[in-house]
Amino acid sequence: MSQTPAIKHYLQFSDFAADEYAYLFTRAALIKKKFKAYEKHQPLVDRTLAMIFEKASTRTRVSFEAGMYQLGGSVVHLTTGDSQLGRAEPIEDSAKVISRMVDLVMIRTFEQTKIESFAAHSRVPVINGLTNEFHPCQILADIFTYIEHRGSIAGKTVAWVGDGNNMANTWLQASEILGFTVHVSTPSGYEVDQSIAGIRSSDSYKVFKDPMEACRGADLVTTDVWTSMGYEAENEARRAAFAEWCVDTEMMRVAQPDALFMHCLPAHRGEEVEAEVIDGPQSVVWDEAENRMHVQKALMEYLLLGRLA
Ligand code: CP
Ligand code: NVA
Repeated sequence: MSQTPAIKHYLQFSDFAADEYAYLFTRAALIKKKFKAYEKHQPLVDRTLAMIFEKASTRTRVSFEAGMYQLGGSVVHLTTGDSQLGRAEPIEDSAKVISRMVDLVMIRTFEQTKIESFAAHSRVPVINGLTNEFHPCQILADIFTYIEHRGSIAGKTVAWVGDGNNMANTWLQASEILGFTVHVSTPSGYEVDQSIAGIRSSDSYKVFKDPMEACRGADLVTTDVWTSMGYEAENEARRAAFAEWCVDTEMMRVAQPDALFMHCLPAHRGEEVEAEVIDGPQSVVWDEAENRMHVQKALMEYLLLGRLA
């Protein structure tokens, strides 16, 4: 029997309910506080995380690897190039083998169907470290960062300026679960698709042709690269299509006076965001990056040990 339906995975944001997010945000705050005080927090001694990267990474790798060591565990790092994954070993076989030797798996890959196949054949929890469709760990960190700076995100407005990509899809899922609104502005041909985003209705988001109108009155303005990993062949067409979708000081000016700016990074100054914005006073991008580690520590602990408080 290879299927293990009772295991809790984190493959997309909608895998958890609002009360689980409330727990994770509280737990992440505690874990962060202990980290800042050099206080040991090691509930995962003797546990091993396998990290599988089929795409490049800086933040995801460092945050999961450092985070797991801080929790008392250890990590194994695999890439397509240095494992049999790159030599066409079936994903199902890889899942069966890897999950017999480790306690937790984090995967960064291409299609969501690939991580779903892995999870379906895994004996241990699987975490999505980014797919073409979703990036749930990033939105977990972003919302935690919003709460740290401004309190609850419920009832607030998030402006998404740019590609209808994995980040946009995940923001839409989060808005349904946590009760906020997303103003989405993308160039035509790069719209969000409700069926790919995996949301029930269009009640929690509004589409705007003009990115300036999407930002008007927003509590948070956020964007991402014009060309995501895996879409590099479209680079030239995207540079032309996205020219007006650069978050600039004018867009920040029409947002709420205390609006925050976020970007999951890596960023391209002068493309999707002006340097004055990402390096300006409303930007919280470095907190966002650091918080990846704190929320993922809470996530790994939760997947392996359940609620502890
Ligand atoms: N934001 C993010 O996931 O960054 P990396 O691609 O560096 O992991
Ligand atoms: N949308 C980007 C996010 C990178 C962290 C990508 O998928 O490449």
